Formats: sequence, structure tokens, C-alpha cells
Amino acid sequence: MKIPNAEAGEYASAMGHLLVLYTQVDQFIMEACAERVTFAPDATARAGLLKQVGDEQRHVDIQRQWMQEFGVDPAPLINAQALEQLHAHFRQLDWVDFLTDLYLVIEALGSQAVEQVVPLADPGTRESLRVPLQDELDHIAFGLSELHKALEAMDARSRKACLDAIPARIDAVMAMLARLNLPVLDWFEQVGSDTRQLQAVLDRRREELVISLAA
Ligand SMILES: [Fe+2]
Ligand SMILES: [Fe+2]
Repeated sequence: MKIPNAEAGEYASAMGHLLVLYTQVDQFIMEACAERVTFAPDATARAGLLKQVGDEQRHVDIQRQWMQEFGVDPAPLINAQALEQLHAHFRQLDWVDFLTDLYLVIEALGSQAVEQVVPLADPGTRESLRVPLQDELDHIAFGLSELHKALEAMDARSRKACLDAIPARIDAVMAMLARLNLPVLDWFEQVGSDTRQLQAVLDRRREELVISLAA
């Protein structure tokens, strides 16, 4: 049987890992969006990417400050080589695939997972997530609106092919993230999540996203 102190220690360590991971992902997104600015298809897309770069920088600052207060070991969980491979993946994508992989998976499903932790989190962590999660809603809305715009500009056949390919793209990004070999589900459990319920919420969200794009 676990003693309460051990449980508190387990919670703090798992939450610390989730915070480090969230911060690394935000930093990654900031860099990926910054690189894309020059290749954005129009002024609206460029403005959205630029706003997001600023937002993600703010998230990284908020999380770093909170991690220091919370006493989290800031050592990166995703190593430099794996990060570079992720960058290489995103760099070679065209605009539509970039939007799909970044906004449907990393932003939408990623923040959905973080949202699930909020009610279980200690007050300080919850407060540290408030502004970032609010901004993530804007980022997801931006990505979806750009994706809609790109799909509408296609002829019916390309549009259908693109929509049909989305579930496989989502799976491929998930598989790429799984290859990072981080015990993320254990950390979710150690902070009190029911991982089966979490999986169900993510499946539902994924379904909603795919349906909303086809509409
Ligand atoms: Fe963020
Ligand atoms: Fe974001």
C-alpha cells in the first residue's frame, strides 16, 4: 500500500514530467510556426502564424517560471536528435499536411489531453495552464479555418483524396510520437487520470475534428 507522502511525491514527479513535455512541445511548435511564416500562402495565414509564435513563447515563459517554483527538474524529455527528426518531418510537409499534422494532432488532440489534467491538478499547475490553454483554442481555430480554406480551394477530387487521407495522417503522427518512447500514459495515471477515459475523450475529439472538416 502506498503511503500518502509517496503518493504526493509520485504526483509531483509525474506532473513535473507532463509540464516539461508540454513546455518542450510548445517550444517545438513555436519554432515550427516561425519557420513556416515565410511559406504561408497569404497574409491571414502569415498573421496567424506570427501571433502563434508570440503566444507559444509566452506559454514557454509561463511554464518555465511555474516549473521553477514547483521544483521541477527541467531536463528535456525529448532529446535533441528526436526533436530534430520531428522538425525534419514538419519541414518537408506542404501547407495542408502541415496544418493537418500540427493543428489536428499536436494542437487539438494535445491540448485535449492537457485539458483532462486540469481538474486533477494542484492550484498552481492549474493556474499555469489557464492562459496557455485559452490560447490553444485560438490556435486550433486558426488551423481548422486554414485547413477549411485550403480544402475549399481544391477541386472535388483532390479535396476528397485529402479528406480521405486525414485519418491515416493522424495515425502516422501518433505513431511518430509513440516512438519517442515516453511513458506519458503512466504520468497521466500518476496524476489521477483514468487513461481509458482519456483515450475515449481523445477518440471522440478526433472523430469530431474529422467530421467538422468534411462538413
Ligand atoms: Fe502553447
Ligand atoms: Fe498552441
